[in-house]
Amino acid sequence: RDAFEFTLGQYPDLSLWHISGSHVIYCLQKTRRYKVISIDNSHNSFPSALKRVSQLSKEELPQGASEQDIESTEIDAHSCDLTNPAQVRAVFEKYGRSGIWGVIHIAAYKAVGESTEIPLTYYANNVSATLSLLQIMNEFDCTRMVYSSSATVYGTPPIIPIPETTRLQADSPYGKTKVMAETILDDLCHAEPKRWQAISLRYFNPAGAHPSGKIGEDPRGRPGNLLPLLAHMAVGRVDATTLKVFGNDYPTPDGTCVRDYLHVMDLASGHLLALDTLGEDSKIFADSDSARYKAYNLGKGKGMSVLQIVEAMRKATGFDYKYEIIGRRRGDVPDLTADPTLAEKELGFKAPQDLETMCRDLWNWQSQNPQGYGEQ
Ligand code: WQD
Repeated sequence: RDAFEFTLGQYPDLSLWHISGSHVIYCLQKTRRYKVISIDNSHNSFPSALKRVSQLSKEELPQGASEQDIESTEIDAHSCDLTNPAQVRAVFEKYGRSGIWGVIHIAAYKAVGESTEIPLTYYANNVSATLSLLQIMNEFDCTRMVYSSSATVYGTPPIIPIPETTRLQADSPYGKTKVMAETILDDLCHAEPKRWQAISLRYFNPAGAHPSGKIGEDPRGRPGNLLPLLAHMAVGRVDATTLKVFGNDYPTPDGTCVRDYLHVMDLASGHLLALDTLGEDSKIFADSDSARYKAYNLGKGKGMSVLQIVEAMRKATGFDYKYEIIGRRRGDVPDLTADPTLAEKELGFKAPQDLETMCRDLWNWQSQNPQGYGEQ
């Protein structure tokens, strides 16, 4: 099966390289059942990351692996932009009608605070580009998608842990772009229940890196997200020893925001489970007459506060973090902790790796690669 995996790089100062992109490719290649085609405009991502994934997959092949197995570790990488339909169409033309089995769409700007400052950029990139991609997929009869959504679709949820039945009421432009894309998929699958099928995966907070330390998150400039920022501080890539904590007046145990952190390898395995489910005999869509669209939380179901994360990273890195409480960040909500039972029950999803492992693997990646992939 040819599966598309989209990573989308854009403005150099936006942390765009999605932590999960390279890890999802790794999981796909591990099965040796998928041939990966990757689209990326390389303005802000790192081609060397794809090379490292291929290398890692190749190294892990068993002795005497077949030619086909070796070929499955190659990535057909296309340096083009999801916001440029002609470039994307050219890739689909290479494989022809029905030539691509499915798409894992992991391409979006993902910083809550940032989206409140540049909403138009977020709507263009996260919604218009998704719409254009779906139109091209439709043209080429590629009608399966696993979509990278986010817990931010819940806004400030009424109950914690959050079940998928919670009303979608995103608080930030970023979260609203995710709700819009989910809605487009839902409507598309309702319009053509026999033809289209899609699964949205609502990421909670991915963290960590592949245990080899060879691939990991490598945001350009100062990371917007907590864990990569703490890793950059410990390795001296950010010249600061004091973390600015965005508020400690939330209704949480220690007043700082609570998030549900899960290992990026567990998150990546969730994509494979979802993609496998989109086969003809998919069990979750028992009634073939109804729309084949579902959304699942991908989280551990265990919330950790900012201060608890700082403590865990202090232990993993040995770095003496200081912190200073400042005002709240626009778009932040008190607590996003998943109820993961639906994905566990219907996809067989599990996120067993604990926070200590996430911090250890993140530090293993960062300390081995202080400058990340080292590309400008
Ligand atoms: C975590 C907590 C901050 C930086 C992000 C993406 C979202 C989703 C999950 C994919 C918050 C606090 C942070 C700092 C701080 N990914 N913080 N000081 O915003 O929960 O969600 O990951 O879908 O798309 O935006 O993660 O790491 O930015 O923040 O106090 O310098 O750490 O306030 O409470 P977030 P984050």
